[in-house]
Amino acid sequence: MPINPIPMKKYLSLLGLLSLSLMLSCNQQASEKQEAKKEALKFAKTKGYLKNNCLSCHSETAGEGERLAPPFFAIRKHYLKRYPNEEAFTKAMKSFLLNPQKDHALMQGAVDKFGLMPPLNYPEGQLEDIVEYLYEVEQPKPQHKVASDKSLAKAKKMALATKKVLGKNLMTALQDSGKYHALSFCNVRAIPLTDSMSQNLAHSIKRVSDKARNPNNRASQFERDILAQFRTQLENGEEPEGQIAKLASGDYAYYPIITNAMCLQCHGEIGKDLDSDFYKELKKLYPQDEAIGYQTNQLRGMWVVELSESN
Ligand code: HEC
Ligand code: HEC
Repeated sequence: MPINPIPMKKYLSLLGLLSLSLMLSCNQQASEKQEAKKEALKFAKTKGYLKNNCLSCHSETAGEGERLAPPFFAIRKHYLKRYPNEEAFTKAMKSFLLNPQKDHALMQGAVDKFGLMPPLNYPEGQLEDIVEYLYEVEQPKPQHKVASDKSLAKAKKMALATKKVLGKNLMTALQDSGKYHALSFCNVRAIPLTDSMSQNLAHSIKRVSDKARNPNNRASQFERDILAQFRTQLENGEEPEGQIAKLASGDYAYYPIITNAMCLQCHGEIGKDLDSDFYKELKKLYPQDEAIGYQTNQLRGMWVVELSESN
């Protein structure tokens, strides 16, 4: 060991200092590690407690219709939004849990839907641990919701891809040969599904409307209800997002179709955007047509995507 350049005494004190600081940082690290371990243990215990005492009502795996209370994921989100600060969060949730009362409840919608949570007894110190856990630890998302979001994203992708092809075909047809020839281009069945659409994304895709041109595209009563919801959202200035439904015949995604200026020459007001002579021709092809009188940014109909099992 090359100790020669440093005098022995100095070397020793240096060594001492070094090992002292090493020891100190080691100790600090060890205690931090221990702290973290204790915290993790406490959280694991609380998680177990919630599982045995709360999840019978607050289950995140129960379906929408089977649930007896909102899942903790939603509760945590509501509380964090209202009380981002830990102290305020703790105070509000603790006071509710000690004495659940309607006017103390943050989630009035849940109270109306499920009724008020019954008062429970908590072992000493347990309430503090629960509230800390719900503040600190991200809660699992309701499972059916996760699947729906994924399916909805896929359905949206598919609807947009189809819309793009449709729009492009329509535009080219209108430019090349005018609207008389473009007539058939607004028919989805005339469009071959592109690769991106057919890649295992869905069983089928169709369009429906509550004012259909082709009677085959008429919306069912169930679909009309969804259209009505989209229309209300649009009228309130929101952008309708789309919806998922599980029916006996399969899982379906619904995605709104909104008009733009290009649509009006075939779906607008007769004599204005929609040429009367042209409409006479159109009417020959579609004697039962109802799909006129639209303006821009209105709900024309929706895509109905039947999702494949892989969703
Ligand atoms: C018997 C069913 C049931 C059990 C068991 C239950 N809850 Fe609830 N809980 C509800 C219902 C119903 C609501 C929604 C209505 C409300 O807010 O009172 C609710 C709401 C809550 C809320 C939100 C209150 C608010 O501000 O609106 C919290 C927090 C909560 N529960 C925590 C717990 C915890 C923690 C446990 C277990 C120690 C638990 N619950 C056990 C039924 C239950
Ligand atoms: C060149 C004329 C033309 C243009 C432009 C046009 N459409 Fe159509 N549209 C039609 C025809 C024809 C049908 C009937 C297709 C069929 O037989 O399925 C139709 C059907 C539809 C349907 C299916 C429901 C129904 O009424 O049968 C929707 C939804 C639709 N169009 C939306 C639009 C939108 C949105 C635009 C603008 C982006 C648009 N269309 C532009 C001619 C047109």
